[in-house]
Amino acid sequence: MHTRPISRPATTPVQTTTAAAKARFWNRVARKYAADPIADVAGYETTLKRVQALLSPEHTVLEIGCGTGTTALRLAASTRRMLATDVSAEMIAIAREKLASQPLAKLRFGVADAETAALGGARHDAVLAFNVLHLVSDLDLGLQAILSTIKPGGLFISKTPCLAEMNPLIPRLIVPLMRALGKAPHVLVFDTAQLRSAFERHGFAIEAVERHGTKRKDIRVFIVARRP
Ligand SMILES: C[S@@+](CC[C@H](N)C(=O)[O-])C[C@H]1O[C@@H](n2cnc3c(N)ncnc32)[C@H](O)[C@@H]1O
Repeated sequence: MHTRPISRPATTPVQTTTAAAKARFWNRVARKYAADPIADVAGYETTLKRVQALLSPEHTVLEIGCGTGTTALRLAASTRRMLATDVSAEMIAIAREKLASQPLAKLRFGVADAETAALGGARHDAVLAFNVLHLVSDLDLGLQAILSTIKPGGLFISKTPCLAEMNPLIPRLIVPLMRALGKAPHVLVFDTAQLRSAFERHGFAIEAVERHGTKRKDIRVFIVARRP
């Protein structure tokens, strides 16, 4: 049972943040984000291998918060077809540029807010969310919307920074300061236990909880869950 509330900055409204407001920060930083190298290549490759092993050529797959599409471009070949979405039109523009230079018939990119229940309309065999669940306005609303996009028996595969597992000065002081300066997005602060509880509240059956980082302490938890 979930006992501790998931904390968010006092100034962050719940359910009132529009997709446009959410996109504003990410549109602004998209080109820089695209240029930044992956911080832990070995950890990233472990995650990719793990996800590839869970996917099958029969699966239709939805990725939410796909950013500039790097992961979708690596995973689409392991699926029947893949739709990768992001709230930021600029991120999707970059993803489409990459797709144009390495065409993959199975992959499409689209702009969508992961917190909208209508997300994509269709239900998928697997939904992927990497480095995005801490960015939604409300974790429960986000998980509810995600659940509605997964077929019964389908998979939800995520990797999420649990900011409550960092030095508390970072989420409590440095992130709000950076946010005030427009240099950080809105974030939710939770730990792995709170994230697991949220999954379970929404009826997900958790099948694996792992860490793939190879550098220092890894606050990003990889969770494989199934919609019963
Ligand atoms: C930290 S980046 C991660 C990108 C990519 N998944 C990765 O692991 O490199 C977070 C991404 O989530 C997107 N995002 C944030 N809030 C979102 C929301 N409510 N719905 C969909 N995408 C969202 C941002 O636009 C950004 O591209």
